[in-house]
Amino acid sequence: MTFIGALAAAFPARAQSVDPAVGERLAKSECAACHAIDADAKARSPDPKAPRFAEVANMVSTTELSLKVFLRSSHKNMPNIMLSPEEIDSLAAYILGLKKK
Ligand code: HEC
Repeated sequence: MTFIGALAAAFPARAQSVDPAVGERLAKSECAACHAIDADAKARSPDPKAPRFAEVANMVSTTELSLKVFLRSSHKNMPNIMLSPEEIDSLAAYILGLKKK
């Protein structure tokens, strides 16, 4: 195994960087059971209590930091979804990308 290969195997999360497309894929697999995850303003969340991500993106209280803090802490209504820091950053980038220009 090459040195780089060994490093990538030892630190799998490090091989990934912040990427809104990765965030979108994670949102589809981990979050879409409860949240409407795309920019469609008419979409309804499968769980009526879960805000649409487009709605979250447009709340004045939402910032990159608030999303990252939220996604790092556990949430009483959300199962404990284990996300790496890179996954959290990618999800935050994806959600913020839904904000109306
Ligand atoms: C089992 C259902 C469920 C899943 C799965 C789920 N959520 Fe949620 N989420 C909720 C509910 C319900 C709320 C609103 C109620 C609350 O805030 O307690 C919420 C609220 C939120 C909020 C709003 C926080 C705020 O500032 O009000 C964000 C952001 C969020 N979820 C992100 C995510 C992300 C990202 C994922 C996937 C990694 C995810 N959720 C998966 C049910 C879920």
